[in-house]
Amino acid sequence: MAIPLKVRALGSSAQEKAAAEEIQRSLAPCCANIDPSSLTTRARHQSGGETVVGTVKEVRHAFPDLAIPADIPPEGYWIYSNSTQKGTLLVIAGADDAGILYGTFALLRYPDASERFDPQSHSFRSQPAMPIRWVDEWDNADGSIERGYAGRSIFFDSGHVREDLAPVAEYARLLASIGINGCNVNNVNNAAPFLTTGFLRGFARIADAMRPWGVHVALSVDIASPQKIGGLSTYDPLNPAVKAWWAAKVSEIYALIPNFAGFTVKADSEGQPGPASYGRTPANAANLLASALRPHNGVVLYRAFVYNHHLDWHDPKADRARAAYDIFHPLDGKFAPNVIVQTKEGPIDFQAREPVSPLFAGLEQTNQAMELQITQEYTGQQRHLVYLAPMWKQVLDFDMRAGNRPSPINEILSGKTFHRPMGGVVGVAGIGQQAWLGSPLALANLYAFGRLAWNPNLTPGQIAAEWTRQTISSDPDVVSKVGKILMQSWPAYERYTGPLGMQTLTDITGTHYGPNIESSENNGWGQWHRADHEGVGMDRSVATGTGFTSQYPPEVAKLYESVATTPDDLLLFFHHLPYTYKLHSGKTVIQHIYDSHYQGATEAAQLLEEWATLKGRIDPALYEDMRARLEYQAGHAIVWRDAIVQYFLKLSGIPDEQRRAGHYPGRLEAEAARLTGYKIIDVSPWEDASDGKAVRCEVAPCSAEWTWQGSTGRYNIAAQYFDLPGGTARFTLQVNGHALANWIADANLPSLHPHGDNSARHTVRDIELKPGDVLRIEATPDANDPGALDYIEVTAAP
Ligand code: GCU
Repeated sequence: MAIPLKVRALGSSAQEKAAAEEIQRSLAPCCANIDPSSLTTRARHQSGGETVVGTVKEVRHAFPDLAIPADIPPEGYWIYSNSTQKGTLLVIAGADDAGILYGTFALLRYPDASERFDPQSHSFRSQPAMPIRWVDEWDNADGSIERGYAGRSIFFDSGHVREDLAPVAEYARLLASIGINGCNVNNVNNAAPFLTTGFLRGFARIADAMRPWGVHVALSVDIASPQKIGGLSTYDPLNPAVKAWWAAKVSEIYALIPNFAGFTVKADSEGQPGPASYGRTPANAANLLASALRPHNGVVLYRAFVYNHHLDWHDPKADRARAAYDIFHPLDGKFAPNVIVQTKEGPIDFQAREPVSPLFAGLEQTNQAMELQITQEYTGQQRHLVYLAPMWKQVLDFDMRAGNRPSPINEILSGKTFHRPMGGVVGVAGIGQQAWLGSPLALANLYAFGRLAWNPNLTPGQIAAEWTRQTISSDPDVVSKVGKILMQSWPAYERYTGPLGMQTLTDITGTHYGPNIESSENNGWGQWHRADHEGVGMDRSVATGTGFTSQYPPEVAKLYESVATTPDDLLLFFHHLPYTYKLHSGKTVIQHIYDSHYQGATEAAQLLEEWATLKGRIDPALYEDMRARLEYQAGHAIVWRDAIVQYFLKLSGIPDEQRRAGHYPGRLEAEAARLTGYKIIDVSPWEDASDGKAVRCEVAPCSAEWTWQGSTGRYNIAAQYFDLPGGTARFTLQVNGHALANWIADANLPSLHPHGDNSARHTVRDIELKPGDVLRIEATPDANDPGALDYIEVTAAP
């Protein structure tokens, strides 16, 4: 595809300038004195003629003969290319400045965009499926990031907006390249201080940095701000003084940030204040803000994540999943036109799998946005590779059958189903200073989020291929292999964490990272799975349970009401069933739990094996970085597998037909070793360690010794130890006194005590062993890391 090197912007807006520069940047790594050997592949295809960027209006004026379609909607673009003897004319016409940017990035997205052009009209065009395409950052004023796994904030530090906003401009460029048009920069929790005048001046600088890329800044606000920072005695949404306070505050914001997008609100939720304190509704609160924003064309994204986190665990009718619909459905039609109700994709909270929230079909006269989570709070926190696009795609495609008619979620969000003018998707991004998302392949999630927001008809596989080509390599074999790895990752993660709709089974009241099955029970948070000796699952049916299923439109309600028609992968979300219940697959629930965890852990190991085939074919630093991550993931998948399997084996008392659960040939427990300096401890929760026990070093240096009683042969030896934060313990593996491996426990894993969060594995491969050999682990603790050890496992080397 020929891109003329001469690039001209018809207008003078910052966005047009940015678009023109982007094309130039893609043609040559540097713009002046181009050395042909430094040209990018694209530039080698450059031709004479010119590349022109402009708004449709500007292009019509400059090229009256071009047949530009009359109906390009806001943010859409039209790209034209024609080569004649005089050279090539390439035109990127945007409906507006943002459209120019999106057209530019669309052209650059494809190594050979020529196939996209219609040969008759020499053009192609596109437009976003929905107007709201935002990312939310949960950044705190001190520079920390709630549920962020990529270091510190690019926006804030020590209570201020950072001086250096160069990364913010780069982030906005990244967002523009995937069609994102809004960025809500501060955490939904503790938002009040952000509305002070000093902070707003800082936000104006953030907005300036993002503006050339068409990204509008939005702010999370605390509904109690008039009282917390405004000196009023109340924040009652119906109080005139409160109303006047918000109107003045919003005017102050727009004076500083003319293209300000609006507010995001978390109220009456998880300790945040809200209208309920005054007996008012979310509509009262949302409309209060909406009326202040309306004269400036701003919007309110009011989160439907409102629930009581002090639910009565003993009440079989209590159900957190019901909350959003129970609270918001009765308010349908009561929200101002510039309010958008923002609902998490599932009724609970970003679990490995949830059904779609029924509220999407329950608001017909209300604008709606879906909240997805790009930062992997419950899906491995970027230490695990989990490509989320297949999950999001299932959600976006899910047909709610509202009014017994086809009504896929993506059409509800784009406003088609209920004829709503505004709607979209919001992704909780959690980007930070460490390579945006901390792990290189996690960026495929940010990319996929933007691409699906623009066009929900794209497939996760297509998106993975696009991303890999632009980010890793255009070698078709690499593209196909990376795509395969990405596509396998979510199903694997779901299998080794919480299958059958049980939710992630992680530490609900703590880190949300490692396994901790009972942490969700016996408390008011409502992420219950209700596992007992007989069975597992939440009964959400109308007939015998919480009645949640009735919140769906009739056809979907019927599907989930019956055990027989509920899909296996959501079965335990909707029903409490005995372990012996037979699934559609023919397996019992308990056997499925065993099998799924073994399969998931095997698949995690395969991700590593598949990645290994890329050695020498991709950037070596990227290769090694991801290799180490996938090796860790494969080890942690075993921790997950064993925790869930031994827990349900004990609880149900039903053995694994395949005799894996509870049988670990080759495993030598630390508590059964000859110990020096080490003390045996109970690990909590017990399922996070093999047999619930481990050892920790009390008198350093410590050692654990076993005598090998297996046969002569070559073996892999895996040491399962706990890598605690706050210290760097050192370990050595010896056979007959010879050190075979030394390693340090310096990973940055959560939890201060030995736990599934920080259980890690170090494998030494292909070691010769004979009966009588002495295997020994030596550990030197450091500061708060006591060199704790769970077991070693000796398996035949392949
Ligand atoms: C989850 C998450 C919180 C977050 C909340 C929200 O509960 O763990 O950190 O504040 O969601 O979405 O508001």
